[in-house]
Amino acid sequence: MPRPAPLRGIRPTASVEALLATPPATRGFSEEIRAGLMRAGQKELPSKYFYDEVGSALFEVICALPEYGLTRADERILRRHAVDIVSRLPSPSIVAELGSGSGRKTRWILEALSRRHPVTYHPIEISASALARCEKEMSAIAAVSVVGFERPYLDGLLAAAARRQEAECLLVLFLGSTIGNFDRSAGDEFLCQVRGMLRPGDALLLGADLVKPVPTMIAAYDDPLGVTAAFNLNLLARINRELDAQFDLALFQHVARYNEEHQRIEMHLRSRVAQVVPVGAWRDAVAFRPGETIWTENSHKYTPREIVALGERAGFRCDAQWLDQEWPFAQSLLVAG
Ligand code: AVI
Repeated sequence: MPRPAPLRGIRPTASVEALLATPPATRGFSEEIRAGLMRAGQKELPSKYFYDEVGSALFEVICALPEYGLTRADERILRRHAVDIVSRLPSPSIVAELGSGSGRKTRWILEALSRRHPVTYHPIEISASALARCEKEMSAIAAVSVVGFERPYLDGLLAAAARRQEAECLLVLFLGSTIGNFDRSAGDEFLCQVRGMLRPGDALLLGADLVKPVPTMIAAYDDPLGVTAAFNLNLLARINRELDAQFDLALFQHVARYNEEHQRIEMHLRSRVAQVVPVGAWRDAVAFRPGETIWTENSHKYTPREIVALGERAGFRCDAQWLDQEWPFAQSLLVAG
C-alpha cells in the first residue's frame, strides 16, 4: 500500500560491496529505507513497506478490531448496494481491482455483475501470496473468470485495459480508502493517471473513509490491544530481518495523531531515548535524538463533497455516492467523462 510522497535527499549507499551483497529484489527496499532514515529533517518511511507476510497478517487483524470500523463499513456498502452499483454500468462490463488483497469485499460486486453476464476480473496486486489467494477464491464464483496481474497498480491497470474487447466497459475498483494513504496532491495525480487509461463511460468505484470525531479516529489507529502499534513497529522488525539492522523495538513507541489542518491521521515511531542503530546491510548506523520520530503513514479523511471534487479534477463525474451510517465511509461511482 502506497504513501508515494517523493522521498528527497537520497544519499549514495555506504559501499559498493554492501550494495552488491544485497539480492536485487531487496535493493529498492534498502535504498528507499536508507533515504528515509538518513534524511536531514523529519525521518520517514514509505507505508507500502508495512505489508510483508507479518504486516499483511497484522493488517487483517486490524480490519477485525472493533475500533477500526473502516473495512466493515466498506464491505457493508458493497453488500447492500452491489445490485444498484452494477445496474449503473453498461453491459458487458469487466472489472479490474487495484490492490485486491483477499478480494473478500469484491465478491458482492462480482456476484451481482455475473448475474447479468459472464465477467472477467483482473485483481492487481504486488503481493504474490495475496494474489494467489484472491484468484482461488474469486474463480469459485460461477461465470467469473480471473486473470490476475502481479504488478504495481498502474502497470496492472494498463495490462487489464489492453486486454478488454472493444464493446466492454471497464469498472476499476479502488476500495478500502487506500486513496487516503496518498498525499493529497499525489492522490490527485494518481486518479488522473487512472483516468488516462480509461475510455469515456468507464467507471471507478472509489472507497474513502470520512472525517469523524477525533477520538473515534485516534482509537482506530491506536487500539488498546496494541495491534496497530505492532503493525507500525513491524516496519522496524522488517528492517532488522531484511537489512540486518539492530532496532530494539522496546525503545520505540507507536504514535497516532490527528492533523486537523490536513484532515489526516499521522502515524509515527518515536525514539524513547538517544540511540544509534547499526544497519548491517549498509555498514552504517542511524542516529536518533530522544523523542525524534519516524513518520510512517498518513491516512487522509474526506467529506463526501471532497471526493466528488477529487473525481472531477481527474476527469470523472460522480454518478452516485453511498454512505455508511454506522461508520462514516463513502463509496463513490465516478464515471470517466
Ligand atoms: C490500508 N489503509 C487504508 C489503512 C488505513 O486505514 O490507512 C492502513 C492502516 N494503517 C493503520 N491502520 C490501518
